[in-house]
Amino acid sequence: AAAEDVEDQLLQQVDKQGEIEDSRKFAESIGVNHDKVLGDTIKSLLAYELITTKTVAHTRWELTAEGQQYAKDGTPEAQLFHAVPEQGTISREEIEAKLNKDLVTIGFNRAMKERWLEVEKEKKPEGAPEEKKEAKKEKGAKAPPKPQIVKRKVATIDDIVQKQLQSVAEGKELSEKDLKALQSRKLVELVTFKSFVISKGPKFALKRTKALTDMTKEMMDSKAWKGATFKDYNFAALGLPPSGGSLHPLLKVRAQFRKIFLQMGFEEMPTNNFVESSFWNFDALFQPQQHPARDSHDTFFLKAPEKCRSVPEDYMKRVKEMHEHGGGGSLGYGYDWQYSEAAKNLLRTHTTAVSSRMLYKLAQDGFKPKKYFSIDRVFRNEAVDRTHLAEFHQIEGLICDRGVTLGDLLGTIEQFFSRLGMNEIRFKPAFNPYTEPSAEIFGYHPQLKKWVELGNSGMFRPEMLQPMGLPPDVNVIAWGFGLERPTMILYNIDNIRDLFGHKVNLNVIRSNPICRLGY
Ligand code: PHE
Repeated sequence: AAAEDVEDQLLQQVDKQGEIEDSRKFAESIGVNHDKVLGDTIKSLLAYELITTKTVAHTRWELTAEGQQYAKDGTPEAQLFHAVPEQGTISREEIEAKLNKDLVTIGFNRAMKERWLEVEKEKKPEGAPEEKKEAKKEKGAKAPPKPQIVKRKVATIDDIVQKQLQSVAEGKELSEKDLKALQSRKLVELVTFKSFVISKGPKFALKRTKALTDMTKEMMDSKAWKGATFKDYNFAALGLPPSGGSLHPLLKVRAQFRKIFLQMGFEEMPTNNFVESSFWNFDALFQPQQHPARDSHDTFFLKAPEKCRSVPEDYMKRVKEMHEHGGGGSLGYGYDWQYSEAAKNLLRTHTTAVSSRMLYKLAQDGFKPKKYFSIDRVFRNEAVDRTHLAEFHQIEGLICDRGVTLGDLLGTIEQFFSRLGMNEIRFKPAFNPYTEPSAEIFGYHPQLKKWVELGNSGMFRPEMLQPMGLPPDVNVIAWGFGLERPTMILYNIDNIRDLFGHKVNLNVIRSNPICRLGY
């Protein structure tokens, strides 16, 4: 409430007088500390543009801590003088017993200069010269101080310096010479301080309307936001520093897989299109349009945009011909191929869609032997459980060249997994619409003591490669497997939902060990 009063008073004074000449005097007049007025009121009124300010620098002489002490107790020389009896003498040792030793040191010299005190000349005590000789033998040892006997030289003194200090404390004027003398004794110092001239700002008002920071549902319902003032965003705010980044286990394992591919001379394919047409995902792969995998139970189709923009015209015709009537000795499927079906957009169900685009491009650019790989996301309309997600990652690899064989396929896959530390690999004949022969890949898991399925592979069919325009003697061996399963094995995670998705505990990511390959 106090701060609000200060704010009201300040705004009223600015309104009445046009400006406040000195914020310090204003603070004094209302009996509030200037720093408080500045921190609580002036700065925030300034931010809200109710006022503008001009800074004025002032200087003032103030007492140092030492100066304050002497203003209260008298200067050391005066204190010393009063410690000496009116009549007779006193030894320095006796004074030091009464007063602080440093004070005596400072005061003694001053009092001598002022001719307030004098030291009584005394005969040297006997044996003193000998003592001196002794002392010289011991390196660094000091000669014993000769006892000083002190007495007053005047009856009374006037501690002018104390009075001057008291004047400075009261803010009274002092001559330049006196001030310099006090300053050289480090009893006063020149202090600079700021105050402000306060005048009306562009949004001046006698009352401040507090700016709001949030829009609430209630405000939207009642339309109260219309008249409200909102606080500006502070785009310069730094925000909270992040506690530190950690790589997700999937990224670590992906990095290892990528490294192995690169070591084996593979190039990475661009995988930056999650949305794909049915054409590249299925038709280009000689997958018939009635194939169960094309059902919406297995595939996420897009509602908008429902259809792709285009596919290469000539190529599409060759694909249609191959599906309908076959070619090169193949009979095809003997059904009526529809472009409308091929144009349907979907979330790619496998990264083999990427491979089909790349092989087509390679055929257009003029065939060269290639080794390609990719690791990225795919999507399947699947019921989610401990081992299945609707969104996961596929590792895809292919080699295209003249004369590559099934032996190359099996050998390459074995080589790939042996670099992961998995030396026991088995293949099982399988079926794929786009490969012949096809082989599922199994790896032996020593902890689980069983063969686990790792992926699928095969040699792409001529029905897929010929319409693309690849030379007829070029073979393509290819394979695909998941990234999640090996990662779960490597990181000992038994529920895929603990690895990937919105339920993942961030601490698992922060604290998981660096990727260790080999089981
Ligand atoms: N695309 C297949 C899958 O989704 C894997 C695969 C890739 C099989 C290449 C053969 C050749 O499982």
